[in-house]
Amino acid sequence: TLAKVSLQVNGQRRELEVDTRTSLLDALREHLHLTGTKKGCDQGQCGACTVIVDGRRINSCLTLAVMHEGASVTTIEGLGTPDKLHPMQAAFVKHDGYQCGYCTPGQICSAVAMLDELKGGMPSHVSADLAAAPQLTPAELRERMSGNICRCGAYSNIADAIVEVAG
Ligand code: FES
Repeated sequence: TLAKVSLQVNGQRRELEVDTRTSLLDALREHLHLTGTKKGCDQGQCGACTVIVDGRRINSCLTLAVMHEGASVTTIEGLGTPDKLHPMQAAFVKHDGYQCGYCTPGQICSAVAMLDELKGGMPSHVSADLAAAPQLTPAELRERMSGNICRCGAYSNIADAIVEVAG
């Protein structure tokens, strides 16, 4: 069954007609040709497909495009440009926070939204203790980024990049 869905993608209104079974990930990659968002496992385990929907990071492989009518979706293409990198992108470059690079768009989207969560837009399931924490401990950082797997094992450099942006 085909259905129409309207999304605000990286600040632009996009109208799509997709099979109702189309994941948000496939809608982004195959319909909108935004291939910065990667497909790793396609079953919610790796985080390569992480995008930011209405301020929250989600695994776009686990959700259907038609469930997000009117939503604001930010992908890696919407965070920065080669000439004007987002601070998180610049920090990943500076700290060499990648090896093969496949997980990097998801890592960066996840890290950006995670820091926004810390700044105040806390999801209700996160404890008040963490909400009040002025800085991330290494353990908290690992926990909060645990949904994003890096098979090259660049975790320490990824953490260094995020810590720099977190201040
Ligand atoms: Fe979505 Fe792996 S591709 S979590």
